[in-house]
Order: sequence, then C-alpha cells, then structure tokens
Amino acid sequence: MNKPLALLNNLTPSQFLAEYWQKKPLLIKNAIPNFKGLLSAEELAGLACEDEVQSRIVEYIKGKWDARQGPFADDDFAKLPDQPCQEHHWTLLVQSVNHHLPAAAELLAQFNFIPHARLDDLMVSYAPDGGGVGPHFDSYDVFLLQGQGKRLWRISEQSDLTLIEGAPLRILKHFDTAQEWLLEAGDMLYLPPHLAHWGIAVSEGAIDCMTYSIGFRAPKNQELATEFLGFMQDKLNQDQLVFDGIYQDADLSLQIHPGEISQQMINTVSENLKKITWSEAMVAEFLGRYLSDPKPDVVFNGNKKISTTTFSKKITAMGLELDLKSLMLFSGANFFINGEMINLTGESAAVLKILADHRRITAKDFKIYKTINTALLELLYDWYSAGYLHIISS
Ligand code: SIN
Ligand code: CO
Repeated sequence: MNKPLALLNNLTPSQFLAEYWQKKPLLIKNAIPNFKGLLSAEELAGLACEDEVQSRIVEYIKGKWDARQGPFADDDFAKLPDQPCQEHHWTLLVQSVNHHLPAAAELLAQFNFIPHARLDDLMVSYAPDGGGVGPHFDSYDVFLLQGQGKRLWRISEQSDLTLIEGAPLRILKHFDTAQEWLLEAGDMLYLPPHLAHWGIAVSEGAIDCMTYSIGFRAPKNQELATEFLGFMQDKLNQDQLVFDGIYQDADLSLQIHPGEISQQMINTVSENLKKITWSEAMVAEFLGRYLSDPKPDVVFNGNKKISTTTFSKKITAMGLELDLKSLMLFSGANFFINGEMINLTGESAAVLKILADHRRITAKDFKIYKTINTALLELLYDWYSAGYLHIISS
C-alpha cells in the first residue's frame, strides 16, 4: 500500500501526502508509461451528445470567452473552427467519464491512496491547438494526466485571484507565469487547490490534445454546515431528535412595551436551543450519507429480476462489482451507498468493506466465507435490484 509509485515520481503515497498534497505542485514525467488515453476524440464527442452526460464547450473568440452546456449535436461540433488560431480556439470538457467507461474507473483506482470520500470524478478534455479554459484556479485538488497530444501548463503562485467580471467561466484577470512545462502523453501534474494555472493545448501533427483531470472534491465549510443543518432538521422531522415540552413563562413579568420581545423570552429560548447537540456518530452518518449521495443527474437502472438462489449462486461463482455510478463508503459498522445507510457487523461487514475499498468482491473473496449469511445476501440482492451493483460478467 505504501510502496514508491511511478505515478508519484517514485515517492511513496505517504511521502506524497506529507510533502505535496494540498501544499505544492508536483510534475511527474512518465507517471503512466505508454499512456495513450482511454477513449478517442470521437468517443468523447459521442459522450457529450448523451443526455445524462455533463459536458461543456468553451470557445475563445477575439478576447471573449463563451461557454455552452451539453448535450450537443453533431452540428455544434461542425460549427467550430477547423483551423483554430490564437484569436479563435475551443475545447470540449466532459465530466464524470468514470461513470460511463470501466477503463476510467480503473484509472481512478490507481489513486486509491486518497480516500474515496474525497474523490470527485474524472473529467476529460479535448482541444485542438491553442485550446483551453484560460488562466484560472480550482477549489479542488487535481491530477492533470496528459493523454494524446501535448499541453503546455503554466502555473503561478500569485495571490491575486481576481476574476474577469461577467465572463461565463472563471478566468483570472491577471496571470504571471512562474513556471511552465510541456506535458506529453503519460506525464502528469498535481496541483493543490487555489493554485493559478493555465493549460494550452499543443497539437502534434494531426493529433490534438486530450487531458484527463482526476479531481478531488473539497467541500466548502459553508456547504458542509448548510447540509449538516438540513440533516439535523430531517432528524428532528423524523422524531429521531426529540424536543419535549412547550415554551413556558409562568414567571412572566409585566412589560412596558407589549410589542417588545423581552430579554426573558430570549434567555429561555437560548437555553432551549442549547439542547441541540450532536454526537460524532451523527457527524459520521451525515458525512456518509452526504458524500455518497449521487449528483442529481445520476440515475440507476435496476437489474433484471432473478431469484435470490440464482443470485447467490452467480455471485459466489463470478463475484460482483459496484455500478460505475455507485458511491460507497463506510464508517465503523455503518455502510453508505448512494446516500443510504445500513448497519452490519461481523463477517458481513468484512465483505462490505472489500466492496467499499475495491468496488468489487471477487468469487475468490466470497470463497473465504463458507456461506453468505441471509442478511448480507438480502442486502446485496436489494442493491443488485436497484442497479447499485452487478454480477461480474467475465
Ligand atoms: C482542461 O483540461 O482543459 C482543464 C483542466 C483544468 O485546468 O483544470
Ligand atoms: Co483547472
């Protein structure tokens, strides 16, 4: 688990975490030797034409930026310039490619040294010469892996992060290049959040640039607080958090201003509200549910009905794997999948941990256990029916 990795410039994951993660950029030449990319430009454009895929085309025309959301039609691509130049260039960006391409999910598995709770998605961009999204910064940690073609990356440690007002995407007003590198297929650049960067596509003959961004989400504290308060409200509505009694003021004293909210009332209510408390277990439940909740556009297609006996036979013979869109996490004996929570202990918990860590349970994993207990089998069957997981087909 902590061996030096070519992916990390021969650092061990621990060294990378201690020296670079969230701290400073790292250029890794030949991070994935012979990496040619996972899909062609045509296949990426094909994904961008599908309803359930989030995509954008960003165009720069004579000093102005334009950004459009997919899904796109062939026509949208036909209108883009054949011969891009400094004055007019464009890029296509496709989000969550790992939801659609098993090879992309396998690529993400190489980044298992970062907890899944922090993972966002794999975004793939395509750009002919000169294309890109301009100088900007992200709130995310990102590994920028070069596929086909080349990309010139400029970075800047600038503290001025003022954005161009009114632009349809976040472009920095000023950018002072501190360092630049030309990344080739298989090279990778790690960038911590808020580091200004600018990637410019460099075509190699007829081969345009494709970049794979492995992004790690870092929720804003404000967002966590808002979501947590929503979670607490649900607990209150579901009577899992009980506030007994009603407001009492047997000691009410005569007020000069009947219209005034008295200090006495403020004090009583303040004391009552102090009873809103939460445990670490509640925070863990909130995190598990929130971080495993799929994005709103994600839909699961249930698997075709089979009997539980057939299901049991099939999974022990072939194993099972999470759907590419499923998110699974655990904390102690609580398991979270796509926003839902289940509590299981013992042997069942050991099996579910394999699924959460590796996204699959192989037939060999199942062999360790003589029988699959009924509670676990029923749970896996429910998840199978919901389309959260599938029987491994080969
Ligand atoms: C790109 O691939 O063009 C953009 C990646 C980024 O700058 O975050
Ligand atoms: Co960026």
